[in-house]
Amino acid sequence: MQKVIVYRKVDQRVLDYLRTTCEVVYFEKLDESTYPQFISHLNDAVALLGSALKIDEEILKNSPKLKVVSNISVGYDNLDLDLLTKRNIIATNTPGILNETVADAVFGVLLSTARRIPELDAYVKQGNWDAMIDEDLFGLDVHGKVIGIIGMGGVGKAIATRAKFGFGMEILYHNRSRDEEIESTYDAQYCSLQDLLKRSDFVCNMVPLSEETKNMYGAAEFKLMKKNAIFINGSRGAVVDEDSLIESLRNKEIAGAGLDVYKQEPVDINHPLLKFPNVVTTPHIGSATVETRFKMGMLAADSVLSVLRGESPTNALNKIT
Ligand code: DGY
Repeated sequence: MQKVIVYRKVDQRVLDYLRTTCEVVYFEKLDESTYPQFISHLNDAVALLGSALKIDEEILKNSPKLKVVSNISVGYDNLDLDLLTKRNIIATNTPGILNETVADAVFGVLLSTARRIPELDAYVKQGNWDAMIDEDLFGLDVHGKVIGIIGMGGVGKAIATRAKFGFGMEILYHNRSRDEEIESTYDAQYCSLQDLLKRSDFVCNMVPLSEETKNMYGAAEFKLMKKNAIFINGSRGAVVDEDSLIESLRNKEIAGAGLDVYKQEPVDINHPLLKFPNVVTTPHIGSATVETRFKMGMLAADSVLSVLRGESPTNALNKIT
């Protein structure tokens, strides 16, 4: 049987499915104690299934039989597609099935930040609620406001659906290209990034991380935003220059931020961003529901089995000739 290494926690049914035709070596997580073992199994492994791990030269030089790297995520900034292609290794991700789940999470973070829900939850639980709350604890309206979505892929559109049809918001968007269907469905307006930043009450970043998008939000971008704007990041932390975001929050150039992702994950407990009451944080929960993570695991397993049967899965990220 061909050997598949699963290097993150998945549902038992995903492992059972792979085991119908493959030998599976399973690491619930990779850390200092399991990493050497992981490396020692690479020699005869044909597939890697997991997420976030940087598949670098060191891993590849130890993996002479590798045919497929299957990412359990839609983002694939941990993969060097050129390097994998050169080595005839197919890369896959899990697009589509997580769009609605990630949009739920992003919208939850947006509402929580605007209405200060985590802060006020702590206020109640700490016994501070002794009279009708006053203006100092008021939040900001979400309905009817302007949301600017940067990155109008599947998740961006699912966010736009919630914003437009659930909250009556005006939609601005910025993307690599204009899309007339998006504009007619959501009555959305295509904008330059600068224009979007100036006009939005909620700036919602969903662009994938790449060399082009790294640190795309810096001091100049935060300065363009309205003083009462809220910045939301639901894609990857490294698209934001976090020092500039901190500066902008310190100087009250924006009203707050809702962050599901960070440059370094897990984020350090002493990170200055965690000290602001007007910054709502979640631990990269975008797709983290029982149902969606199961579907993602099964799709990732399917992709592995499809490559091992000699097929080219539709969710392949590169082409091997
Ligand atoms: C992904 O799949 O890339 C998202 O970050 C999931 O939360």
